[in-house]
Amino acid sequence: MNTALDWYKDAVIYEVQVRSFRDSNGDGVGDLPGLLSKLDYLEDLGVTALWLLPHYPSPLTDDGYDIADYFGIHEDLGTLDDFKAVLEAAHARGIRVITELVLNHTSDQHPWFQRARRAPADSAERDVYVWSETPEKYAGVRRIFPDYEDSNWEWDEVAQAYYWHRFFRTQPDLNFDSPWVREKLLEVVDFWFELGVDGMRLDAVTYLYEREGTNCESLPETHAYLRTLRAHVDERFPGRMLLGEANQWPEELVGYFGDDDECHMVYHFPAMPRLYMALAQADRDPVVQILARTPEPPPSGQWATFLRNHDELTLEMVSEEERALMLEVYAQDPRAKLNVGIRRRLAPLLQNDRRKLELLNALLFSLPGTPIVYYGDELGMGDELDLDDRDGVRTPMQWDASAGAGFSAADPARFHLPLVSDPAFAPPRVNVSAQEHDPDSLLHWTRKLIALRKRLPVLGRGELRMLEPTQRAALAFVREGRGQRVLVVANLSAEEQRVELGLAEPARELFRDEALPELQAVTLEPFGYRWFALEG
Ligand code: NOJ
Repeated sequence: MNTALDWYKDAVIYEVQVRSFRDSNGDGVGDLPGLLSKLDYLEDLGVTALWLLPHYPSPLTDDGYDIADYFGIHEDLGTLDDFKAVLEAAHARGIRVITELVLNHTSDQHPWFQRARRAPADSAERDVYVWSETPEKYAGVRRIFPDYEDSNWEWDEVAQAYYWHRFFRTQPDLNFDSPWVREKLLEVVDFWFELGVDGMRLDAVTYLYEREGTNCESLPETHAYLRTLRAHVDERFPGRMLLGEANQWPEELVGYFGDDDECHMVYHFPAMPRLYMALAQADRDPVVQILARTPEPPPSGQWATFLRNHDELTLEMVSEEERALMLEVYAQDPRAKLNVGIRRRLAPLLQNDRRKLELLNALLFSLPGTPIVYYGDELGMGDELDLDDRDGVRTPMQWDASAGAGFSAADPARFHLPLVSDPAFAPPRVNVSAQEHDPDSLLHWTRKLIALRKRLPVLGRGELRMLEPTQRAALAFVREGRGQRVLVVANLSAEEQRVELGLAEPARELFRDEALPELQAVTLEPFGYRWFALEG
């Protein structure tokens, strides 16, 4: 196990939906013992940290982001002992475990909410949530699920008042002006860190406070609470990590690191769609521009980067024009559009083109930040567009070609979500077992990518220097630091490109393990890429 306090800078994170990973008891729902039984697979893949989607008791109106008890495990997934067993076994393999901390809201079934709605209007119990007599308060604040909710307020018959919810109406926002709420959430953090969890993802952390006349995002009070939380964690649990989920522009995002006293990690939301835009336009500019306007994180800070996750591919941090381009290229099927984004997995987004899959992953793994792989994307799994909301990108992991895909012994009709049905992506075509036996598979390539990344700490920690080859379709940069120098060159276009690098030094191409006595230029096939260790 990497024992550095900032281990997350060298990590390769794997995001896993436990419900969809492996079912151990034949009820059609993935569970913690199922995950435990697949740790060997994850160890072979080479990932060094798992990010588990919400594991708490929940009525599942938002796949567990509607928590009904912060101190438990959802009965579908197993018990607290099962959770401890996963933690222990993961740690024994040098794999860390990151869980969810949904701070902003609970389920409306949470006892706190049930108590609040019945409590007297001016009581401390009522004050645990955000209430109003009128839905006019905080007017103009954007809705995050516009396809599902037309207001951030919901009338509650029992309380005879409106409650505030940034997400579904089943997810009332906690009131961070209540000292009780602030304290209670520190207890939650203590509970899971004491059990041995290595990091927590702070869900929807932008929205903790509300103030009239603002957009109710990233308020100073929210940052103040994050400082309290960070100080609490660093003091009691040094080496544990807080990962902030804030879907914002770079200048605001960097604020979530604070003065090195808020989050250890923050997702780089704006970088993600720009990788797709650069590819769609065969032009490096979107990536170069967004990185140029991204401030450096403080010393202990690190970006978390990704191509896909369990949500729609969000298009909030792009201009109107850019959004139109993204939808035109990547959401041709109208069912793919959801809220302000595109609900597709990586392989279907990239027309299942192996060259593009490798190219975007090779960039994700070499640009600044710690990469996150979404479960199934290492195989090129597909999606199921007819399912509701974001379920289509959360279907069961495809372990083998059998009727149940090796996910579960239950009748597939009883699976909590159906298997992918499109023959181009269904289990007989895309599965772990077949790819394990095929040395040319995407799975083998992903293993190699992860292994290379782990040999190159410079990619997690080094500086970035952009090069400016004459062709705009060529994205080229050098990562420097830790006594290593790596040059990455990528061809974003469907045409061959000969890229002059303006250097003349010995290098070794790392994917091909090929020595070049004097690297001056490189000819890249369509959508080709190279990683060179510079040895001059
Ligand atoms: C962000 C999560 O990624 C998403 O899945 C969830 O619906 C919202 N936060 C609300 O918790």
